[in-house]
Amino acid sequence: MRVEPVRALVGHVAVPGDKSISHRAVLLAAVSEGETRVSGFGRSGDTEATIAAVRALGAEVDEHDVDTLTVHGVGLRALRQPGSPIDCRNSGTLMRLLTGLLAGQQGRFELVGDASLVSRPMKRIAEPLRRMGAHVETTDGHGPLLIEGAELGPIDYELPVASAQVKSAILLAGLFASGETTVVEPLPTRDHTERMLERAGASVTKRPLSVSVRGASRLALDEVEIPGDFSSAAPLLVAAAIVPGSELTVHGVGLNPRRTGLLDVLERMGARLAVYNRRSVGGEPAGDVEIRASELVGATVARAEIPALVDELPLFALAAAHARGDSVVRGAGELRLKETDRIDGVAEGLRRLGGHVRATADGFRVKGVPARIRGGAFDAHGDHRLAMLGAVAGISSIEGVELEGADAVATSFPGFFQVLEQLSAV
Ligand code: S3P
Repeated sequence: MRVEPVRALVGHVAVPGDKSISHRAVLLAAVSEGETRVSGFGRSGDTEATIAAVRALGAEVDEHDVDTLTVHGVGLRALRQPGSPIDCRNSGTLMRLLTGLLAGQQGRFELVGDASLVSRPMKRIAEPLRRMGAHVETTDGHGPLLIEGAELGPIDYELPVASAQVKSAILLAGLFASGETTVVEPLPTRDHTERMLERAGASVTKRPLSVSVRGASRLALDEVEIPGDFSSAAPLLVAAAIVPGSELTVHGVGLNPRRTGLLDVLERMGARLAVYNRRSVGGEPAGDVEIRASELVGATVARAEIPALVDELPLFALAAAHARGDSVVRGAGELRLKETDRIDGVAEGLRRLGGHVRATADGFRVKGVPARIRGGAFDAHGDHRLAMLGAVAGISSIEGVELEGADAVATSFPGFFQVLEQLSAV
């Protein structure tokens, strides 16, 4: 696909519901009592895999329209063994969270995924779940996974890496353990699971760097409203920050402080942004974000900030390429273990477009040039976040970008190119 430069990005927009929260809503609703109505569901390749998974496990899902569902819960311990493997497609969140939820059920469950997903590390969940008594077999530390339901006991577990997916897998398994399961984090990661468990009536204790859950007998959600996905707003916000003359407002977007590190970093770079109408949506902070293009200066992203912008670091690299001065990201080795190696993908991809980006073992260094990037060919390697990065680079470039693998955006934001088109002033 060819992405042409635009004069500016202008207008008002809303983005689809948060992907992380959408997965959690469908998974928890499936093991809740009775019906749960989910509104603002973020429909995408990943979250459709989650709907298909809970259906295969015995929970009915009515799809009223693109973003409203009713999930008919089967109760906490009544998921049933499906006749064939569950396909988690491209979704690490689905594979890891579902493993936690299945560890305490009755039956045998096989989880498979696409080539990218089965190359991602799964020992990080198998190891703590086994300590709880779970039977989880990996394939050399990766998927496919085989889970056999077992009696679980509580653990106190210190996460070796900051990962909300691993934390969530343990907390979900903790629902089936008698007593209190505690997860300690090296840095705070997104807390959507804990927030939703609380709303579902589980006994959850949250501390700045740890969280505990008690074994439960039942959950009930009734209704979940999901705010817009900050990670889907991010490419639009970065595009507006770097394309001169842009003025954009994203309405109703999730602003959980464990997700919005990009806003803090953009502010440090001199971005002109403001948040209006702060409110709560489904137990999550949300609001409207307005941003105008401005001259940016380089920034350093500290190790401690990484979890709050882990999925936005590729976009940060592009903003940094347009800024005056140097930028550095350190302590982000986890980026090499995402849907693709996002350190090499970002550095090689942006270099081919004329950006001065160098990969390091655990991050990258960027020499900024305060002007439009040249353009050229960009390969997303099947990774949705890289596809959106290539597209934003294209609209902010001089010559445009020939984007290989643009359809990967459907993994998280199927309408991305339509939204970009609507906002583009040519
Ligand atoms: C997610 C957690 C993060 C993030 C991913 C979604 C989640 O992954 O990168 O896109 O929904 O819990 P890790 O847990 O691997 O850091």
